[in-house]
Amino acid sequence: MKVGVPSEVKPDEYRVALTPAGVRELTDAGHEVFIQHGAGMGSGLDDNSYGAQGAAIVPDAEDLFGSADLIVKVKEPQPREIAMLEPRHTLFTYLHLAADAALTRGLMESGATCIAYETVEDDKGRLPLLAPMSEVAGKIATQAGAFILEKPQGGRGILLGGVPGVAAASVMIIGGGVVGMNAAFIAIGMEATVYVFDRNIDRLRELDLAFGARADTCFASTLSIEERLPDVDLVIGAVLVHGARAPRVVTRSQLALMKQHAVLVDVSIDQGGCFETSRPTTHSDPTYEVDGITHYCVTNMPGAVPVTSTYALTNATMPYVLHLASSGVIAAVNESPGLKLGVNVVGGRVTYQPVAEATGVPYVPVEEALEGVVAAG
Ligand SMILES: NC(=O)c1ccc[n+]([C@@H]2O[C@H](COP(=O)([O-])OP(=O)(O)OC[C@H]3O[C@@H](n4cnc5c(N)ncnc54)[C@H](O)[C@@H]3O)[C@@H](O)[C@H]2O)c1
Repeated sequence: MKVGVPSEVKPDEYRVALTPAGVRELTDAGHEVFIQHGAGMGSGLDDNSYGAQGAAIVPDAEDLFGSADLIVKVKEPQPREIAMLEPRHTLFTYLHLAADAALTRGLMESGATCIAYETVEDDKGRLPLLAPMSEVAGKIATQAGAFILEKPQGGRGILLGGVPGVAAASVMIIGGGVVGMNAAFIAIGMEATVYVFDRNIDRLRELDLAFGARADTCFASTLSIEERLPDVDLVIGAVLVHGARAPRVVTRSQLALMKQHAVLVDVSIDQGGCFETSRPTTHSDPTYEVDGITHYCVTNMPGAVPVTSTYALTNATMPYVLHLASSGVIAAVNESPGLKLGVNVVGGRVTYQPVAEATGVPYVPVEEALEGVVAAG
């Protein structure tokens, strides 16, 4: 298989879809790998490091798309990339098509097979290619919150871990999934007082075992959240209901319960936000204030640490890339039910039902669409 990795072109995107370690795995397995010149620079990986593991460096995106059959990326393709996709291509990347009818149409028109990282599932129904970015975002959430609590950043001016003789800050995490657990581990490590709220009792049981006595777990009723808000210095919102907009867990009127210049970090902002007063922000202008409460609502938090994020993402994607390259796309998808769930578009047809429903195009089962491709080929 000819595998290609283009430079990411979306603004503020510094991750890359394959590291030199990934190139080595692929070339050892007999595949050809093409890397666009400079693709790894944002993550500290130069062309030579890829070349040393057997990759061919190509000068631009046109050469890359022309040379490769399996295109591995990080972000959804931008219009100039969609224009280079052909029916012979398989695209493997984050797509988030349900929110983007124009992108869905563009990918349908390309005729390519498009596999979305975010809908691939493991054998327990979890999302293995989304989890690494949630781990990163969870850890950043506490770091960012601790920094914004500093007075010059607009915070209350309280140190998360306190010092001998002065109490630590209190951190409330709402949503104890992958993001929430990782946020809690950093808050515990910084010696804050930590409360993790969730509505799933089984999840609270798991968290209770993971934290021991180092954090309290709480059922996330409206009343229990309201009762805790007056005490806390930092609130991290990390709720998710699969396939739905984030539920609102703190309303504007509840901000009045909080200490002035406490901090809200809304990690769920990429699903619409879980605080009523949240609106998307960027790394270059990450915070704003509402009713004396500082809000941080950056939609692509892992983008702040591309070196870590690139390795975290590629560790998770690599086995799938190898499987697709070694078995061929159709066999790999048929051999792996979880990977099959990642297939969103094939030969002009949408094969993932929630995307079809959200974008108003007909849904075609993936098996049927792949048969069409085999018949046409
Ligand atoms: N901003 C970013 O850069 C960024 C990066 C990664 C993930 N995220 C987002 O972070 C959010 C969390 O992701 P995750 O991987 O941790 O999801 P997850 O599914 O692992 O965890 C979500 C948790 O929220 C809980 N929950 C759902 N509704 C709740 C409610 N009303 N009250 C309390 N708890 C509730 C669930 O029981 C679950 O434990 C998602 O919206 C995800 O898209 C954002």
